Amino acid sequence: MRVDKMIGNSNLDTRKNIKKNAKKGGLVINGEIVKDSSTQVDPKVDQVFYMGEFVDYFENIYIMMNKPAGVLSATDDKERTVIDLLDEFYQGLNLSIAGRLDKDTRGLILLSTDGKFIHKVTSPNSNIEKTYLVETRDKIDKSLIEEFKKGVYIKEDNYTARPAKLEILEDKKALVKVTEGKFHLVKRLFSNLSNEVVGLKRIAIGNLELDPVLKEGEYIELSKEDLSLFLD
Ligand code: URA
Repeated sequence: MRVDKMIGNSNLDTRKNIKKNAKKGGLVINGEIVKDSSTQVDPKVDQVFYMGEFVDYFENIYIMMNKPAGVLSATDDKERTVIDLLDEFYQGLNLSIAGRLDKDTRGLILLSTDGKFIHKVTSPNSNIEKTYLVETRDKIDKSLIEEFKKGVYIKEDNYTARPAKLEILEDKKALVKVTEGKFHLVKRLFSNLSNEVVGLKRIAIGNLELDPVLKEGEYIELSKEDLSLFLD
C-alpha cells in the first residue's frame, strides 16, 4: 500500500500534511529518508518512521457472528455479552458492535475495530437495509405490506418509522427490511399494528448475508469480498 495511506490509517496525520512533511525529510522507510509520500510499502515488513515516530500499523478486524438468544449485544456488562463468546485474542481488541440486537434476537451481528465501518453500517444516512426473519403471534394481515411501505406510526415514541419492506412468507412468518436501527424497531412496527413478534433473527445487513455455516454463538472474520459489499 501507499505509505501515506499506511500513516493516515494509523491516524497520525492527513495525506496533505504527510506529503508536505515527506518532502521536508520527515519520512523514513527502512532507515532511509523518502521524499515521495506515494511510495509503496508492505506494512507488515517495512519499518516506517513519520516525524520521528514509529508507525505501528494495525489492520482493522471485522467479525461476523451468529448471535444466540440470551446474550447481550454490549461490549461491557455484568451479564453475558457477545464479547464473552469471542476467544481471548479478539476479546483484547476493543471491538465495537455495528447495530445492536435485543437480548432475545438472534442472528447476524458485526463487530469491528474500524470506527468508520461501524458508523457506516449503523448510520441511517447510509440507507443500508437490515433484513429480519420475523415470527409473529397472529396471522400477518396483507394490509401491513402497505402500512410498512407508508411508514408505521410508533405511538410510544411519537415517531413515524421510515418506510420498510414486508414480505409475507407464511401466515405467521415474514421478512422485514428496515434502514434504521431504532430501539425495538421491528417489534414496535408489529405491535403498533396489533400483532406481536415472537421470534426475531437478523439474516442480512446490506448485501452481506449471515453465513449459513455459522452455528449460534460462532463467528468468522469477514473476507475482503464481504467488506467490498460496503464500499460506495
Ligand atoms: N428490531 C427489534 O425489535 N429488535 C432487534 O433486536 C432488532 C430490530
